[in-house]
Order: sequence, then C-alpha cells, then structure tokens
Amino acid sequence: MEDLDPTFIQAPEHRSNSNSIPNQPEEIPVIDLSRLNDPEDIQNVISEIGDACETWGFFQVINHGVPCDARKRVEETVKIFFDLPMEEKTKVKRDEVNPAGYHDGEHTKNVRDWKEVFDIYFKDPMVMPFSTDPEDDRLRVVYNKWPQFPSDFREACQEYAGHAEKLAFRLLELISLSLGLPKDRFHDYFKEQMSFFRINRYPPCPRPDLALGVGHHKDADVISLLAQDEVGGLQISRRSDGVWFPIKPVPNALVINIGNCMEGWTNDKYWSAEHRVVVNSTRERYSIPFFLLPSHDVEVKPLEELLSPENPPRYKGYKYGKFYVSRNRSDFKKLEIQNIQIDEFKIVT
Ligand code: OGA
Ligand code: NI
Repeated sequence: MEDLDPTFIQAPEHRSNSNSIPNQPEEIPVIDLSRLNDPEDIQNVISEIGDACETWGFFQVINHGVPCDARKRVEETVKIFFDLPMEEKTKVKRDEVNPAGYHDGEHTKNVRDWKEVFDIYFKDPMVMPFSTDPEDDRLRVVYNKWPQFPSDFREACQEYAGHAEKLAFRLLELISLSLGLPKDRFHDYFKEQMSFFRINRYPPCPRPDLALGVGHHKDADVISLLAQDEVGGLQISRRSDGVWFPIKPVPNALVINIGNCMEGWTNDKYWSAEHRVVVNSTRERYSIPFFLLPSHDVEVKPLEELLSPENPPRYKGYKYGKFYVSRNRSDFKKLEIQNIQIDEFKIVT
C-alpha cells in the first residue's frame, strides 16, 4: 500500500467509510425547471424547492438554462490547464491576500484536501475588506489571474460564469417566493457581490480510505450551483440524522445547495448541509461550483419578516466580508485553531 502524506489523513470519524449508506436509493430531489413554463405548475416547483431546502439543503436541477455547450467548453479548457506542468500552473498561484488563481494546498478544517483548485471572481475586480479587524474599514481591490495557456481559458470561464450567475438569481427568486417573500427580497445584497466560481480537480488517490477530496464542511455562501462530471464522490449529511448520502451524477444537471448566509437569513428554516467529497484510486474527477456571495458590507442576520415571538433570532448579525476574509486566511494554511464557523454567531439559549 502506498504511503500518504500525513497532512491528508482524516480523523477516523471523518473518513469515507464513516456513517454512510452507500446503496440507499436516491432521495434528493431532481427538479425540472422547464416546468416553470407551465403557469399551472409554477407554484408546485416553488414548493418543491422550499421543501428540498428545508429537508436536505440540497437538490438538483435539470433544464436549467445553462447551455450544455458553455459547460462542455469550460470543462474541456480547464482540463488542458490542469494537465500543464506544475511550474506553469504556479505562475497563476493564489497568494495570502488574493484568493484568485491556482492552488493545491487547500485545507478544510485543518486537514489537507486531495485536490487542486482554480478560483475566479465573478466581478473583476472584486472589492473585499482589507483585514479581519472589525475596526478597519479599508477595502482591497483584487483582480482575477488568468493563465496564458490555454488561450481561451478566460473566455470559456467568463461565458460559463455569466450563465451560472443568471441561474443563481433565478433560483434566489424562487427561494424567496418559497419563503412567502417578494421575489426580489434579496437583490439589494448583491450590489458588489463577492461571488466566485471554482474549478476543482480531484486526482486519483492512493488511499481513498484515509483522505478526502474535500473534508466535511458547509458552504459559506448564499447558494452554490455545482456542475459535477460523471465520476461521482459528493456526499451530503442528512439533516435528520447526519447519515451520509451520495449525490449521484445526473447528466447536465446542476447540484444546488444552501449556504450559511441563506441559513442565517431564514433563521435555520433552510438548511446548509454538511458535505464532503470522497475520492477514488483510479479516476480523476472534475467539479465546477459557482458560489453566490453577497457584497462585503451586507450584514447577515435573520430576516425580520420571518421572525416572531415563537421564532426568535438564532444568530447575531455579522458583516459578510469580514467573515469571508477570516475564513480565507484559515483555508490558506493549517492553523492551530479550527477555522471560523457560522456557529460562532449563533445565539446560545
Ligand atoms: C466545494 C464542494 C463538491 C464537489 O467546493 O465547496 O463542496 O463535488 N465541492 O466538488
Ligand atoms: Ni462545498
């Protein structure tokens, strides 16, 4: 058996064989968005989305309007980039102040992930807080990094991201309606959105029993839209009992999940599920998530309209940008302490 660098080794309770039901029938909903063309079906789609956000925090969508061609093009182009020699890839490496670009040392909860990533902001340049200090109002303007080769990398990525963002806002409107709110309730939060999309490459791993492609985590965004290839490996933890379920690849579908912001805005009605990626020893896997993030100055706290004496706020407000910057610092290298989690803003009763 090959040795694995110890930085990749998960604690026994987090390994891929822990607490999972591998052959459980698929239960996570797949929702066909072409049904929105039928006025009589719109309300059903909205309530199915609402139920999925509450029960699982995950669902898949098909006929979602992101063209297959744009997806295929980005998938092919990024593969060419990831197959380049390391010295080429590190020319566009992310650094401590600018999280855009190539990176192969990502940690989730202080254990190294078995993957390489490339991060691209949707808005270029993107504005983020200068530091984690709550008293420091300075902002930093950061730019994407683009490789010279393959030459259409930038165009392919931007084309795909444009479609993904459009769908993200469509879904946000449907989620808003499912909560009984006006469809544009969240729009103002995205004037200087910090959204980004990421290319994940998970190489074959000699010890998939010990390492994970991504360790268990919740996404720190509003919603995520993930294109995964046919290999599979994404698992989510069921809200009711924490058992791990696979999200099976469905051709051309996108996997949608609720992130920490939406969970906070809805005061935990909608669930941000823990998820992780299991790797395998023979096949590489690609996935492309688009993370919808609000502006840096948005305060994330439960929406007044959803609160009542029976449903008091469960979170103190926090400034999104400061949270994002703290999180990023700790992703970058192994820290002595656990990286910042949303639970730190929970009101303990
Ligand atoms: C992530 C993530 C899942 C996947 O990048 O946050 O959860 O299947 N990815 O790659
Ligand atoms: Ni994730």
